[in-house]
Amino acid sequence: MIKIHFVDHGGTERSVEVEDGISLMEAATQNLIPGIDGDCGGSCACATCHMHIDPEWLDRLPPIEDQENQMLDIVDLRDADSRLGCQVKVSPELDGIVVRTPIGQH
Ligand code: FES
Repeated sequence: MIKIHFVDHGGTERSVEVEDGISLMEAATQNLIPGIDGDCGGSCACATCHMHIDPEWLDRLPPIEDQENQMLDIVDLRDADSRLGCQVKVSPELDGIVVRTPIGQH
């Protein structure tokens, strides 16, 4: 199991343990983490899984592909640490990752 620490916009931390290979979006929605919707089910078509990756972990993620980059462009609060959670699969290398979630996606 992989541990993920979700920190919401108010600073509340929720830690979850999930199976290797699911996405950060699935980890959030399966555990009812506030602020992550995942409306398109993970096909990189809605950008409602936007989240901010803690800088300590950002370099350990796979690079942003073109489609993810284009979808992130429609996110109001895109930042240098922004990723779409559906495009990041959890793995043992990401055990303990810290992710900040926005107040909402709309
Ligand atoms: S769930 Fe729709 S873009 Fe990630």
